[in-house]
Amino acid sequence: MAKIEEVNTGNIPEHVAIIMDGNGRWAKQKGKLRVFGHKNGVKAVQSTIEGAARVGIKYVTLYAFSTENWNRPKLEVNALMELLVDTIKKEVKTLNKNKIRLKAIGNLDSLPQNAKMKLQEAIQETAHNDHMTLVLALSYSAKWEIVNAVKQIVRDHDSGKLSMNDINETCIEEALSTNGMPHPELMIRTSGEHRISNFLLWQLAYAELYFTPKLWPDFREDDLYEALLSYQRRERRFGKTSEQISDNIS
Ligand code: FPP
Repeated sequence: MAKIEEVNTGNIPEHVAIIMDGNGRWAKQKGKLRVFGHKNGVKAVQSTIEGAARVGIKYVTLYAFSTENWNRPKLEVNALMELLVDTIKKEVKTLNKNKIRLKAIGNLDSLPQNAKMKLQEAIQETAHNDHMTLVLALSYSAKWEIVNAVKQIVRDHDSGKLSMNDINETCIEEALSTNGMPHPELMIRTSGEHRISNFLLWQLAYAELYFTPKLWPDFREDDLYEALLSYQRRERRFGKTSEQISDNIS
């Protein structure tokens, strides 16, 4: 198992995005209800965030609830929302102690009123922190986000703020909910599934993908370091040749 000392602190991704998967299977293996898996998933969140802050990762985005997750049984959806509110309420103190700012992306208006309110309170109470940003993707899907961005661009075009020739990558970036954040250089998915599942499709264009068979509730700080070591062994070429990268020529 990787340890923090093995990680090269000079080559840390600025933004790590995580698909926390396998809570249900973890609970099933133990003969428990799926919600038990989600509750234990919170321990994995705490350990991972502590580890990320320790090595100097500036942004962590967690896929906590997708647009598609609304189709789960009502009981599970309600339990997840309750868990979210409880966790946020309990963790604000720790976030402030560790100078971690909370943000959220997704269709936040679709969240239950109480969840939305607690989330907004926590976002305000941590807004001054500058060590790390924890982004919760809630009621989020990349296709939803892209549709929203297109609507925004069309509105700006129709109101005369934007001409057709001005539409470029930057204006798309600015219309996404991640505006102002760096793109994730590393995306981690647990539970052995090899999919992106409608997560940050635009932003992950050049991300390194790391898949682990570990189920999310078993994921800990050292597993994050393992993922970072895998990232650090890779050569990120962005379409260039290996020689251009090693000789540092453009
Ligand atoms: C995927 O596992 C996990 C989720 C849909 C929810 C993730 C939520 C948490 C870890 C709890 C709290 C999080 C925060 C940020 C407070 P799954 O249910 O799809 O598992 P399965 O694929 O094994 O069924």
